[in-house]
Amino acid sequence: MSDAGAEKRIRIFDTTLRDGEQAPGCSMTLSEKLRIAKALTELNVDIIEAGFPAASPGDFEAVKAIADRNFGPVICGLARCNAADIEKVHAAVRGADKHRIHVFVATSAIHREHKLKMAKEEIIRSAVGAIKMARELCEDVEFSPEDASRTELSYLAEVVSAAIEAGATTVNIPDTVGYTVPAEFDHLFRYLKDHVARINEVTLSVHCHNDLGMAVANSLAAVAAGARQIECTVNGIGERAGNCSLEEVVMAIKTRAEFFGLETGIDTTRLYPTSRLVSNITGMHPPRNKAIVGENAFSHEAGIHQHGMLQHASTYEIMRPEDVGLSKSKLVLGKHSGRHAFRDRVTELGFELDDFETNRAFQEFKKLADKKKDVYDGDIESIIMSAGSSSSGPWALKSLEVQTHTDEPATATVSLMGEDGTGVSRSALGDGPIAAAFQALEAATGVTMVLQNFELHSASIGDDALGEVTVTVEIDGHSFRGRGASVDIVEAGCRACLEVINRSLRRRARDESPVSDDQAAHATI
Ligand code: KIV
Ligand code: ZN
Repeated sequence: MSDAGAEKRIRIFDTTLRDGEQAPGCSMTLSEKLRIAKALTELNVDIIEAGFPAASPGDFEAVKAIADRNFGPVICGLARCNAADIEKVHAAVRGADKHRIHVFVATSAIHREHKLKMAKEEIIRSAVGAIKMARELCEDVEFSPEDASRTELSYLAEVVSAAIEAGATTVNIPDTVGYTVPAEFDHLFRYLKDHVARINEVTLSVHCHNDLGMAVANSLAAVAAGARQIECTVNGIGERAGNCSLEEVVMAIKTRAEFFGLETGIDTTRLYPTSRLVSNITGMHPPRNKAIVGENAFSHEAGIHQHGMLQHASTYEIMRPEDVGLSKSKLVLGKHSGRHAFRDRVTELGFELDDFETNRAFQEFKKLADKKKDVYDGDIESIIMSAGSSSSGPWALKSLEVQTHTDEPATATVSLMGEDGTGVSRSALGDGPIAAAFQALEAATGVTMVLQNFELHSASIGDDALGEVTVTVEIDGHSFRGRGASVDIVEAGCRACLEVINRSLRRRARDESPVSDDQAAHATI
């Protein structure tokens, strides 16, 4: 199939930390970004786009911290076509042995006229100047003509030729607004191959958004037409409807290898754990029927399907769950399971905990196993994620009591324990138990919160599953995201809110500048 590019190997350029993070509600702290960068390294992605250093001091620090860890993949940062942006990217990424500067400028008529107010020649001059400057600083330079799919083909070919002459080593073709369709994109890539003289000297890349649900299909059309780098994000997170989903595009190339004749370097058994990590961190959980990593992606409900599966799995299964890192049986441990079994399972799930963290998580697991018969992978992940996020005070939840009655306001009483051993207890009324508990927390801590978002997700299966709550809350004009987990969803919500209250109080105490600056100094993986 792929006669358009001789090379079989497709590079996976992950932009979860840059384009993915731009999605509403997906912003991440520095330590969360470091955890994701480490997971992407274990997944064996080729390039990590770690952020947009000129966007904020926090972004700069995050890209720099990731680059300085020198995880292994190429570390890339995004820049507009100006000297300040390019210098910032270089300063942020240079700590990694392999680093890249990615410059972009929009080229479509709509962007030229309404956004940039620049003529065609001016845009080419700006791109050429930026690429030349970036090449003086770094050997590896990527150029993206933003909104390429809506740019006149002949002008796009002119821009790409000029970019290659200026020294770009990768040319990326974005479908910025998710507008193209596979046949049209195939034509665009073949046009560039035919009309840009030195195109075979650079890596041709594709970057698709999912506004019409075709990001994966369009990316596959581009590689079939000769692209050798795919830009994508874990769980397909990103602006609006998101970006090309890493797990889907990788498994399409692997499962249909005989059709595409291509391969990636991805360790596909890390796909599911990485997806879980990103959804736990962002609080954005893929729908149950999401391809590859959705809860139902490998479940068979209809009797006729189950019968076929029992005869031979290939009747209804084109991929094996274990190929994407989903263990056959998700039932793992119970109250009689020991520390060794727990530690082994934690390691299999991709977590690296030190002795202190293992002990803390094991104690939480034992408490949970007393409350519910079967403990699943999702429950264990949830315990570890919440332990990591709620470990610092000043306040810890001692107890919560809630009363509800139809047609009457709910009452909640929270008792908190401070770091210095002092306790405080407050009660409040609310329209429902969650509102009452949040108001009791405000009264107990003296922190006023504006709740912006509340999401509830079940960590595993069954009516006794751990409920995971992710809240986005505004305190002192800053937005914080917090997580909490419990078999009681009101308690999970309280724990999530208490996490953000604690963070805001620590911030106040340190009279911080932006949160991420401070986290830069304290971050650990
Ligand atoms: O969607 C887009 O055009 C981008 C570019 C900056 C590559 O994200
Ligand atoms: Zn994009």
